[in-house]
Amino acid sequence: MIDYPIFEMPVLGHRLIFAIDAITHVLVSHGAAVGGSIVLALTQWYAIKTNDQKLYDLVYKILFVLFVAATAIGALTGIGIWIHANIIDPPAIGSLLRVFFWKWFTEWIVFNVELIFLLLWFLTWKTYGWERRRENLKFGIVYAVASWLTMVIITAILGFMLTPGNWLKSEFPAQPDYVASLFNPSWIPSLMFRTFFAIGFAAAIAMYWTWWFTRNDLELREKAERWFGRIVLITIPITAVFGYWYYLQIPKEAKDLMFVAGLTTKYIGYKELLILALLGAFALILVAVFAFYLKPKAVPFALASLMMISYVFLVSEFERIREFIRKPYVIYGYMYAHGIRKFDVPHLEKTGVLKYASFVPPEYRNITEENKVKVGEYLFKLECRVCHSVNGVNAITKKVKGLDENAIYYRIGTLNSPATPFMPPFVGTDEERKALAAYLATLVNQKEVLMTKNK
Ligand code: HEC
Repeated sequence: MIDYPIFEMPVLGHRLIFAIDAITHVLVSHGAAVGGSIVLALTQWYAIKTNDQKLYDLVYKILFVLFVAATAIGALTGIGIWIHANIIDPPAIGSLLRVFFWKWFTEWIVFNVELIFLLLWFLTWKTYGWERRRENLKFGIVYAVASWLTMVIITAILGFMLTPGNWLKSEFPAQPDYVASLFNPSWIPSLMFRTFFAIGFAAAIAMYWTWWFTRNDLELREKAERWFGRIVLITIPITAVFGYWYYLQIPKEAKDLMFVAGLTTKYIGYKELLILALLGAFALILVAVFAFYLKPKAVPFALASLMMISYVFLVSEFERIREFIRKPYVIYGYMYAHGIRKFDVPHLEKTGVLKYASFVPPEYRNITEENKVKVGEYLFKLECRVCHSVNGVNAITKKVKGLDENAIYYRIGTLNSPATPFMPPFVGTDEERKALAAYLATLVNQKEVLMTKNK
């Protein structure tokens, strides 16, 4: 973190923007690409097998929607993730890229194959027509396999961040074990969990759009909704089993953070409400799927929509919790969220971080009575702004409200404590800690900030 130019995201903060981008990406990659390709290729096959041209045409209509989502929103947010990740935490993304270089390179190739076959599948559908349906299906199958393979590789990297396992061959500084990094404990369980979840989610999306596209053909609706409903129902128990296996791989300290992750510390008293909301969303999905299965012609559009909203809620909450419980780390046990390696902390506590902060102006590397507020601001940007904004989301101003400079100084020393184990420790010398406290104290009273600015 300290060796890169500082970029601050005002008001919304880095975390929120990244979350919006990443969750949108997951919704599209799981729902439209990975799950969508498998479900629609399967349905195309089913339409061919049962010689049902109407169902065949319906698949195309749904594919149109998923095609637009995958190519427009999916590609856009995917690139967004790269840009955000580099802005927020260059050392983290740099480390991951080096440990996973060839895997990521492979993923990039596979992603291109995926995109090419999506285009071929979609664009030849009409020109091939019903006559050459089997040839067209082959494109869909390659697309589905390629989509899934990208998930195989990305889940390895995500798994590694939470459960790196024995990826270092010896004490640090050490050589990484690339095979162990890949076969980290949560890779396979999380991959299987996501695979089946994505298939269920995509089938639910297909149910939603089927309702819409079959307003004038209830016979077709009956057959299609039952078929997609069956897919959702099959995936639920399988997703649950793999989900539990995945859960078992997660470190205990991370599991302890699940409720804070889902609720934030402010609402931590509402644990039952979170459980109720999650179970409620799940129950709604079950009710909708069973209703579609039993009485496909009678289900109102509102129920189909609620089912979609429930799925979106579950995906978002899962991603939020998964990201949060990894804190205070970005790579578990190795690198803190602010990008400082755990290994380097004892050294940096002696030397200070400013000495190494290449992009902090030289005049702020030596702390004096005159510049300490300004230096403190730089320290805030180096170590806190990945998670806190000044006045916006998760505002530091609110977090230190009511504390004087001494109390803030004390609190900075206990960031990584049992009360707030999700925060990395403040890393630096006692002098640097005092400078950060001086800056934060000025925020408590904004008038004081104005005064220091006018000096
Ligand atoms: C990994 C992300 C992260 C980093 C980095 C981080 N914080 Fe926090 N901090 C949080 C979260 C999350 C909360 C609690 C928000 C909530 O749930 O209300 C919090 C809460 C706080 C609080 C209030 C704690 C309390 O007693 O309730 C203070 C003070 C604080 N942070 C200061 C800092 C300072 C100073 C830094 C930089 C040295 C920092 N934080 C870095 C995530 C972070």
